[in-house]
Formats: sequence, structure tokens, C-alpha cells
Amino acid sequence: MTQHPRFIKIFDTTLRDGEQTPGVSLTLEDKIEIAQQLDKLGVDVIEAGFPSSSEGERKVVKAIKELGLNSQICALSRCTKKDIDTALDCDVDLIHTFIPSSHVQMKHAVNMTPEQVLVSTVESIQYIKDHGVKCEFSPMDATRTEAAFLHKICTAAQDAGMDSLNIPDTVGCMIPKTTFELFKDLKSFIKIPISVHCHNDFGLAVANSLAAVEAGADQIHVAVNGLGERAGNAALEEVATTLHVVYNYKTNINTRLLYSTSRIVSSLSGVSVQVNKAIVGENAFAHESGIHTRGVTEQPLTFEPISPELVGRTRKLVAGKLAGTRGVQAELNEIGIHPNDLQLTEILQRVKALGDKGKSVTDADLIAITSAVMGQVFGEEKIVDLCDMTVVTGLKAIPTASIRLAIDGKEYVGAETGVGPVDAVLKAIQKLTGNIEKIKLSEYRLEAITGGSNAVAEVIIKIEDEKGNIVSARATREDIVMASVEAMINGINKYLLKSRNQGRKQ
Ligand code: KIV
Ligand code: ZN
Repeated sequence: MTQHPRFIKIFDTTLRDGEQTPGVSLTLEDKIEIAQQLDKLGVDVIEAGFPSSSEGERKVVKAIKELGLNSQICALSRCTKKDIDTALDCDVDLIHTFIPSSHVQMKHAVNMTPEQVLVSTVESIQYIKDHGVKCEFSPMDATRTEAAFLHKICTAAQDAGMDSLNIPDTVGCMIPKTTFELFKDLKSFIKIPISVHCHNDFGLAVANSLAAVEAGADQIHVAVNGLGERAGNAALEEVATTLHVVYNYKTNINTRLLYSTSRIVSSLSGVSVQVNKAIVGENAFAHESGIHTRGVTEQPLTFEPISPELVGRTRKLVAGKLAGTRGVQAELNEIGIHPNDLQLTEILQRVKALGDKGKSVTDADLIAITSAVMGQVFGEEKIVDLCDMTVVTGLKAIPTASIRLAIDGKEYVGAETGVGPVDAVLKAIQKLTGNIEKIKLSEYRLEAITGGSNAVAEVIIKIEDEKGNIVSARATREDIVMASVEAMINGINKYLLKSRNQGRKQ
């Protein structure tokens, strides 16, 4: 008899715990866009918010419920009648109600006795169920709750009719072994689905969530890019990919949409993703060293445990000081340049020399080096060229830039304001080039190479398109505004060159 793979439910809390990330505040429109993307991605439950926390939050939860998505819509509520009534008013499919159960939180967070906590738990669950709505119950700080009391509150909640039990590792203090043991014990007396909600204070949120699943948990709470209180929650993309690839379990997640989902959440939340973050970080599928680039071009399994396409990514071979011939060759071939063996050796040597000086080798550097070795490789004309620019700033003046660019030989004029002259001019460039490509500045770094007010400034930028393709470029000048403009235009030219070349190949 064939055994079906285990199915694990994915409960997404990006819009609730994720929004509790310090510094993150999403508008109604942002939340609707994220909810629609999560629905496309295939999450089973969207925790849309905490309606009683503000009038705006109540409106958001209601609006998300009214979208009529396939995912179930959940609202968070404390164990109070007032909170539950506000959640009920949003007409959600599920109410996630919680109350502290650890000694420290009962005493200092809500000033309640264990008996009062038990009464509130039972009354709240019964109240939700009396209204015909599904209820998930969380004894908050469950993992620091005295074992006998945790047993008592979970049993009382089960008897009161909760539909699922969630065990929050509120301060992320568990390790996989203790998580496994806790969930094994819970499985012995809880007869309804059990969920796990891990925080990442020790960097163990994903490992602990998976340990809970190994012990029998049926559902995992996650947030896109691992957003959430303090160090965040278990990252959706890491949990889903590991369940698929390592455990061979089933979820409803379309893993191919993981990267685009990460980009949308990063852009709307303003929280950038660290470059070496698993699955969705810029470097997660980039290879630099010679042995790696040679290996993956011959057989991807050599250094890729996950196929990039599975999570909506593409492989990137990077030219840097550890690069091998294959990496540099592949990167140049990708943009239609085919150096001979001698030229390739010379290009590689110069790339390594730049790296040895402590410089990161940008895409534009590689092309500049190649041009120097092979002669002009892309013809004389640039796709985007600076014709003229004026920047005004001052004590009372709003920093404003007007710019004239030639794009594919046709002139365009535009102006923008900004928080400073660099911001204004870079915005003006993006406004004009936006006519041909939707690309935006994703990173800007300014370094002074020499001291003094006449220091030479080096600007390194990254630009990114809607699919997450990134191109980097640099420029060095004494004038910071000019260095910024030159780096930006270099980057845009390299991006356009690459994308047009790839378009030609298809
Ligand atoms: O981490 C936590 O304990 C929570 C609760 C609201 C479940 O997010
Ligand atoms: Zn939480």
C-alpha cells in the first residue's frame, strides 16, 4: 500500500506578528497586497491582524476578509469578551485567542492569578464557539509555563471546545530536543490539531518548528522573511522549502512563488533581507569560488541542495577574487561576450587583483575590465547617457534635481525633489528610465577613499528589477553627486545590456 506523504498546514502571521517587527508599519493597501500574495502562495491561514488593537487594524482585518480569498482569515484576540466581539465583527473564519500562562507573564504582564487565567480561557473559547466561529487557543509563553499548569490549561481549553491548540515559544528559548519532548507529551492527551509558533531569539525558530512537526505537530506559524517581534518568527520560505525538499512532506505552498513573495514583503515592510539568508537572500544561489562555479555548471547538485527554480530563483555565478575561469566566462557569456582563452585569463587576473585590494567586484567592474582587455565590447554608444543636470540645495531650498538623459538616442527631461541632492538626482534618473524599465535603486553605499573635504568618494549602488535581478556598479569622483549619478547610470546601462542580451537569446 502506498503511503501518502504527511500534510502540514501553514499558518502565516506576517500581517500580525510580522507587523510587530520594530519599525514596521503597513498601510491598508500594503496589507491587502500582501494578503493577496499569501493567498496565491497557498498559505492555509492568514492571520490578518489584531482588530481590537486599533480602529485601523479592525478595518484592515475586515477588508482582508472581504477579499474572498481561498486562505482562511484569522483575527487575534485576547481572552476578553470585548476583544472577541471586535474580532467577531470582522466576520473572520477563525479567532486566535491567547492569554499568558507562565508565572512571570501572568504576574507581570496581566496581573492575573492562575485561576483567573483558567476561567478566562474557558469562558473565551466557549464564547467564540457559541458564535459558530473556529477557535485556536494559545497559552502564551507556553514553553516557560510550569508543566502541570500547561497540562491543566490545555486540557481545560480542549474540554471547552477549542478547534486547535497553538504552543507559542514566545521568547524563543527552546531547543529542538526540548521542543520534540514537549510536543510528544502534548500529543498524548490533546486530540485536536496542534500548532507551533516559534520565535527566533536564539536563531532556532525554524529548527524548533520542525522538531515539533517531527513529534506530531500539524501546523506551523510562520512569517515571510522571518519577520516578527524582536528576532522574528520562523521564516515561511525556510520552513516550506525544508518540508518539501528535506522531509518530502506536503504543504499547499507553491514554492515557486517564495522569492517573489519575499521581495514584495521586503519592499512594503522596508525590512531588507540579509544577503546570506537561506532561500531568499541575494547570495543564496550565488557561487564565486572556482571549484564551486566549475562544479555547478557541470552538475548543479555539486553545490546546490535546492534547485533555484523550485523557489523562484536563478543561479548566479559571481566574478570575485576567488572566481575561477568558469564563473567569469559564464557571467560574460550571459551578456553575450565571448573572450578567447588568453583574454579570459587576463580578465580573471585583473578581477582577482581588484578583489585582493579589498574591493567587491561589481558587474560594471567586470565589464570595464573586459572592455580594457578585449577593446570596446559593446560598441560606442551607451543605452542611457547623461546630457545635462542641475542640482539645487540650500538652507531653505528643497533639494531639487533636473536632468536630461539620452535613452536609446532619444532625449528625455525630468525633475524630482528629495531629502538631499543625491536623493533628488537619483530619483530623477529613475523617473526617466522608468519609461523603459521598472528598475529601482535597492542599495546605495558611499565610501570616502581619502580624508579631507576634497576626499575622493566612491559610490557603490545596486539596482533591482521586479523579478529581483540585481546589478551592481560603482563610480569614483571628488564630487559625491556626480559619483552617485555616474554609478547609477553605469548600473542602468549594465542592467539594460544584460536584459537585452538575454532577451535576444530567448
Ligand atoms: O509569540 C507569542 O506568544 C504570540 C502570541 C500572541 C500567540 O505571538
Ligand atoms: Zn509571536
